[in-house]
Amino acid sequence: MLERLQGLRSQAERELAAVADLGGLEAWRVAFLGKKGALTLALRDLGQIPSSERPAVGRLANEVKAALEQAYEARAEALRRSALAESLTRGAIDVRLPGRLQALGYLHVSTQTLREIYAILGQMGFHVLQSPEVEDDETNFQLLNMPPDHPARDMWSTFYLNRPGMLLRTHTSPGQIHAMRKYHPEPFRVILPGKCYRYEQVTVRSEYMFYQVEGMAVGYNITMADLKGVMFSFARQIFGPERKLRFRPSYFPFTEPSAEADIDCILCRGKGCVICKDSGWLEILGAGMVHPAVLRNGGYDPDQYSGFAFGMGPERIAMQKHGISDIRLFFGNDLRFLQQFA
Ligand code: PHE
Repeated sequence: MLERLQGLRSQAERELAAVADLGGLEAWRVAFLGKKGALTLALRDLGQIPSSERPAVGRLANEVKAALEQAYEARAEALRRSALAESLTRGAIDVRLPGRLQALGYLHVSTQTLREIYAILGQMGFHVLQSPEVEDDETNFQLLNMPPDHPARDMWSTFYLNRPGMLLRTHTSPGQIHAMRKYHPEPFRVILPGKCYRYEQVTVRSEYMFYQVEGMAVGYNITMADLKGVMFSFARQIFGPERKLRFRPSYFPFTEPSAEADIDCILCRGKGCVICKDSGWLEILGAGMVHPAVLRNGGYDPDQYSGFAFGMGPERIAMQKHGISDIRLFFGNDLRFLQQFA
């Protein structure tokens, strides 16, 4: 009986060492320690051995049982631990791998140009004011000194809306009326940026939708010299001192006198191209002294106040700053173009 127990113990220990997983461990437990397991059966046979041998055999039997139970617990613990370790490595992330690059957004070149314009004019005391893109005929034309059928309306081909008298603004100049009515009777300086729409053929130099930045200063002693000073200082800052700016007389119904400013065309370096219509110069803004009738429409007495206004084209400015030879690229959404300004 002693040999049987010893043999059982060494067999059990050998097989336990070979157990590879929790399933195998359970089978081992049933085979040796279970109700019909080898050790249980051996202990049941204890009754048949002579009583003189019983104490020694009993002691050994208890010793073997305790040893096997302990070995079982230790093995179970080891197997559970390695199962856990394996499941952790299987689902794990290799933190040494390089990450996936997040595509960073960037500002559209028109927005970048607008912000440069705000910064330069902001330092000269102009602050930004919003005015609506959907306007009425009165504000877009009539209050700017263009009654119905005024021939100068032909300068702005217009998108009309289904609602009578409503249109998409053809320029930011109606913002002049909004600004004057807002600030009357105080002197003020504002810029009014935003989109404008014209019912026109799209070409390399003009789009049916584009940005403008309107500027307006109203006060007691404002002269054409102030306008010219602001325009030249602005041009030097946005284009650099080496570029040439030309200020020439022009006509707008809402300014008197009126002027336009041109920048020397960088695309052909003055030789002449489609963008500058072979002139060597590209028009970037219209300007002038606010017409007395317009001041009056804004609530300002022209005998007491004077003012200047200008309207510039950020896309035209960006074309001359960056050498962009086609205005259609701005809103064509070709990423190869847009990413150059990231
Ligand atoms: N609104 C004019 C245009 O779109 C530009 C302009 C603005 C001219 C302000 C004079 C004063 O052409």
